[in-house]
Amino acid sequence: MGTYTLRVNGREEKVESWDPNQPLLYVLRDNLGLHGPKFGCGLGQCGACTVVMDGQAVRSCLMPVSKAAGRSITTLEGLGTPEKPNRLQSAFIAEQAAQCGYCTNGMIMTAQALLDRTPKPTVEQVKQELAGCLCRCGTHTRIIRAVLRASRA
Ligand code: FES
Ligand code: FES
Repeated sequence: MGTYTLRVNGREEKVESWDPNQPLLYVLRDNLGLHGPKFGCGLGQCGACTVVMDGQAVRSCLMPVSKAAGRSITTLEGLGTPEKPNRLQSAFIAEQAAQCGYCTNGMIMTAQALLDRTPKPTVEQVKQELAGCLCRCGTHTRIIRAVLRASRA
């Protein structure tokens, strides 16, 4: 059994795992009870499991827990709360940018990493950044509007 120290949403967390290759997604959801990141494909292809790690949007379903040790991880829960959403979460609410909501975590976390390094992105930059996040409900237009709204807030 290995013990790994992660920095999640500003807090140091020690987690145990039998397998150094266990996906970070499982550790976040099952060990730490953080259900923002979703299991979609488990193959790095849909984006539902995205978290921000050291400023980069990463697919937590492909990230071994051993490689996440010592890194700074932000999940959807680390951005804001239902009572106090951050500006991107507020913009998603204002634009009603979700239908089933399954893709929303990946869209928001990917957009957050974009806004952190490019505070005023163009429409093209937003589209390009979110291209790897799948939305089966076809909410893309509202999602793009929400990201641009947050960039103006
Ligand atoms: S669940 Fe990780 S990319 Fe689909
Ligand atoms: S809102 Fe349903 S998958 Fe995007």
